[in-house]
Amino acid sequence: MASTRLLCSFTAKVAGLTQTLARTGWCRVGCRRHVCSSPSRQQSCMSAWVVDQYGSNGVLRYTEEATLPTVNSPSEVMIEVHAASVNPLDIAMRAGYGAKLLKLRRDPASVMNSDSEFPLILGRDMSGVVVDCGSEVTQFVPGDEVWAAVPPWKQGSLAQYVTLTEYEVSHKPESVSHTEAASIPYVASTALSALVCAGGLCRENSSNKRVLIIGGSGGVGTFSIQLLKAWGAHVTVTCSHNAEGLVRGLGADEVVDYTGGDFAEQLETMEKFDVILDNIGGDTEEWAMGLLKPWSGAKYTTLVTPLLLNTDSMGLLDGAINAGVTLCTKALQEVISNGVFYRWGFYFPDGPALDQVAKLVDAGKILPVVEAQFPFAQVPQAFQKLEHGHARGKTVVQVVEKEDRLEEESVQGICTEAVESEQGFQGTSKQH
Ligand SMILES: NC(=O)c1ccc[n+]([C@@H]2O[C@H](COP(=O)([O-])OP(=O)(O)OC[C@H]3O[C@@H](n4cnc5c(N)ncnc54)[C@H](OP(=O)(O)O)[C@@H]3O)[C@@H](O)[C@H]2O)c1
Repeated sequence: MASTRLLCSFTAKVAGLTQTLARTGWCRVGCRRHVCSSPSRQQSCMSAWVVDQYGSNGVLRYTEEATLPTVNSPSEVMIEVHAASVNPLDIAMRAGYGAKLLKLRRDPASVMNSDSEFPLILGRDMSGVVVDCGSEVTQFVPGDEVWAAVPPWKQGSLAQYVTLTEYEVSHKPESVSHTEAASIPYVASTALSALVCAGGLCRENSSNKRVLIIGGSGGVGTFSIQLLKAWGAHVTVTCSHNAEGLVRGLGADEVVDYTGGDFAEQLETMEKFDVILDNIGGDTEEWAMGLLKPWSGAKYTTLVTPLLLNTDSMGLLDGAINAGVTLCTKALQEVISNGVFYRWGFYFPDGPALDQVAKLVDAGKILPVVEAQFPFAQVPQAFQKLEHGHARGKTVVQVVEKEDRLEEESVQGICTEAVESEQGFQGTSKQH
């Protein structure tokens, strides 16, 4: 197991982003590209890690006979995956989380028939190279280096190839390797959805905002800290004692150790917040809601919602209704009693938003935080690592291992083993 932590910082030579991640800006961006042709492929199978039933890590199976996901519609792009990453959602989906709703989204006709979703390929992030495009694809051509967050209702990226619609794909940032790039798309799409759509933040309005990130040391947290700092917000983070150096290194202004007994009291002594991003859930809402500024449009956005758990346990209709009632009740309760907005955040696929994130990465404002890398042969070990908890950034799988290693070696000084200690985290600067 390669368990090095890489944090790469890059000199921001590219100044002045012309586009912003404002609501209007990050929804539909990009220039038109050449129309692509679809080369025919002889291959019909590919390597992948699949699950044939839900369960613990033992259900992960390597095969070289997974169905090749060829381009089936004019707007699709087929990509050779160079690197993927694993997310808490993969662990949960391996065990059957969201099975009912995701199966419906995958194939609405499955309500009427008993078609199986297996073999299922997990893996939500990917960085790779376009190999084929549908006839109506305008933004990409074969050979383009791209990255994307694969929606959970599609076959995932722990495979040699993945096929997505053009809208879900974005050009990969040039300054980072595939391994580094694969650490970002899913957490970036989720954080943007939570902070922008639910939290009402954007580059233009964040500079006078105080944001609290509950659970700042994992994938979503480490990305959100950097995005919010790039937008000029004041960022407070809760995390474990030994993650303080990491989150401060990424720009957090204030850090509260949640393992210290008095952390809620510490937060209460601080100036109140405009937005809280809750990556932890559980009883957090009970003590954290009062930390928001009352009657000033402040928002509490949680990423831990009961929607999929409800549809799994109660069925699609009852589960969705129950979740809807829970959300409306809490939202109403919070606005009446505390004068704050309560919202749920969800991942949404959004290639144009990733275009904007790529610019921030190339400008050195967002750094990939790769805690551990595994070769494709060790996907179960990558799951095990993530399942162990205590993430510090992301766990990445190198699908095309050799090439990415060469790529990293060829650019001296981009990445270095992290120095994380009780004293703090230190990255190194990219030397151009
Ligand atoms: N709704 C959606 O569409 C959506 C999308 C993406 C993610 N999510 C959810 O969002 C959550 C965060 O995702 P992620 O990718 O960032 O997870 P992650 O990478 O596993 O990170 C979780 C982090 O939280 C820390 N932590 C645990 N308990 C904590 C506490 N009580 N207070 C503060 N920090 C704590 C962990 O480290 P220590 O245990 O060492 O402190 C870890 O660093 C997950 O529950 C995930 O399922 C939801």
